[in-house]
Amino acid sequence: MDEIVKEILFPRAAIQKRVRELADQISKDYAGRELVIIGVLKGAFIFMADLVREISVPCRVDFTRLASYGAGSDSSGKVVMTKDIETSIKGKDILIVEDILDTGLTLQYVVNWLKERNPNSLKICVFLDKRKRRKVSFEADYVGFTIDDGFVVGYGLDFNEKYRFSPDIYVIKQ
Ligand code: XMP
Ligand code: MG
Repeated sequence: MDEIVKEILFPRAAIQKRVRELADQISKDYAGRELVIIGVLKGAFIFMADLVREISVPCRVDFTRLASYGAGSDSSGKVVMTKDIETSIKGKDILIVEDILDTGLTLQYVVNWLKERNPNSLKICVFLDKRKRRKVSFEADYVGFTIDDGFVVGYGLDFNEKYRFSPDIYVIKQ
């Protein structure tokens, strides 16, 4: 990691421990059922890969991709789905997995869009939650860590497509 990175926020060991805790909770909540886990590309790919390997209920996986248009690095408005899921979710138990919940606009869009397909249930799991930045009232059902404002990278999260590969999560210098 280079000079733009400020400090380690969550080292890999802390991430692994928290992922196991989330997976244990999800496994208990869905015991005896089957899940369809939907990851939001690209940011969720590492978290989702870790999570599904720790969850003990059977699951299918699928992915969606969204683009949000607006000023700069802020997702400031219109969200568009650029890749649909390929699984029929009608009557199924759905868990959406996302790297980070910020304003809430992206996940609110995803939830409204997937609910139209009449799943049996739909819950949200995010690894990071910047609660203070919410622009719409929206809460995730499972949260890894709640964090303060500040741009974070690593563990799937990027800055201009850089740093996704990092096993630790860092804060970027402003
Ligand atoms: P909203 O604001 O709709 O957007 O909840 C969530 C999306 O915004 C991106 N995001 C970040 N990406 N570091 C990142 O790498 C961050 O600190 C950060 N904050 C928001 C991310 O794509 C997420 O899906
Ligand atoms: Mg994302």
